[in-house]
Amino acid sequence: MSGAGQPFSFDEDIDRRLVPALKVHPRVLGPDGGSLFAAGVADMDFKAPPVVLDALRRRLGHGVFGYEALPDGLMPALVQWLDRRHAWRVEESHILRAPNILNALAMAASLFTREGDGVIVQPPVFFDFFDILRENRRVLIANPLILEDGRYRMDFDGLEAKAADLRAKMIYLCNPHNPVGRVWSGEELRRLGDICARHNVLVVADEIHGDITFASHEYTPFAALGPDYAANCIACLSPAKSFNIASCCSAFTIIADSGKRKAFQAENSRLTVNKNNAFASVAMEAAYKDGEAWLDAVLAYLETNLDALRGRLKNMPGVELIEPEGTFLTWLDFRALGLQPDDLTAFLKGKAGWAVTRGPAFGAEGAGFARLNIACPRAKLEAGLDGLAKAMAAP
Ligand SMILES: Cc1ncc(COP(=O)(O)O)c(C=O)c1O
Repeated sequence: MSGAGQPFSFDEDIDRRLVPALKVHPRVLGPDGGSLFAAGVADMDFKAPPVVLDALRRRLGHGVFGYEALPDGLMPALVQWLDRRHAWRVEESHILRAPNILNALAMAASLFTREGDGVIVQPPVFFDFFDILRENRRVLIANPLILEDGRYRMDFDGLEAKAADLRAKMIYLCNPHNPVGRVWSGEELRRLGDICARHNVLVVADEIHGDITFASHEYTPFAALGPDYAANCIACLSPAKSFNIASCCSAFTIIADSGKRKAFQAENSRLTVNKNNAFASVAMEAAYKDGEAWLDAVLAYLETNLDALRGRLKNMPGVELIEPEGTFLTWLDFRALGLQPDDLTAFLKGKAGWAVTRGPAFGAEGAGFARLNIACPRAKLEAGLDGLAKAMAAP
């Protein structure tokens, strides 16, 4: 695989145990988990783009790491990226830096809702949404997605009713949606936005997976739907997933409404979460400026991994792939096995050798499901699938 004259290899088996990577850490796999197929934590097993590695080497070579401003080129690089990749024209002055997405979600909740207010989420959904709401003492208002003919959709009637609940002040939108892999269409987002606007529910859009979409599916940034939608949105973005730099990047909020933006900025100052990390700045600028060919190559590789997964699962009765439209996370339906959640986890770990994320972590609706991360070398995925095939042959 190559791009811009550069070869990209995603087949290399890199030992992630050489650094304290969470995906393979005993904290995640357990003390006896060293030999499991580690496919839980949502990052990729690939090296960051060569342009990012080169930029970091250059920065390291400088040797001085005192206090720094943001590099002049970073925000323009992000603005141009959003325009070029997603046809989203963003005013540079609307962008604020945030330490990470979860911090931005928590700050949005603490700034724009009060203790006891409700925040709508659409499970099965990224489990940290639940933790943030619990820890900030906000009421979780669940509007579960509907699974129909192997595809998830939003329950708009349910959303209208939940948004009308006087406690509901905000919704955490996951776009694209971890773990079910939906890349919400413009029409779906517009319906959600119209309902939220009718009931004064602020849309906090977690779009961290926005760059990872498969052919024939296009990520629509919620705020790109139009000025009215943008005015009722806190968009949260980060290059963490797109370029596999979660441990050396920061995130961004894009807030078109000046009142909300000033409130966010004031809170950033009050909490002094506005310091710049030199490595994060350099990695992000290089990625947004020059990382496009690598991203295209990684997307093509992920699609071939997805093809491999689809092909193998076809021959395994008892497990169904929920076809992802984006993200490198796949949602597998094991309900036909009739196992209780703990038994399914034990089966996958004990018989298949799989360390994946258990479905109920994403809400009660996830019982009978598991989330498999396919952002790994093909050989590793195939070996994992061999383990599953053996286990499924003798459940
Ligand atoms: C939907 C979603 N939001 C946020 C995050 C984490 O973002 P951050 O590391 O910037 O806090 C993840 C990571 O898995 C995610 O899947």
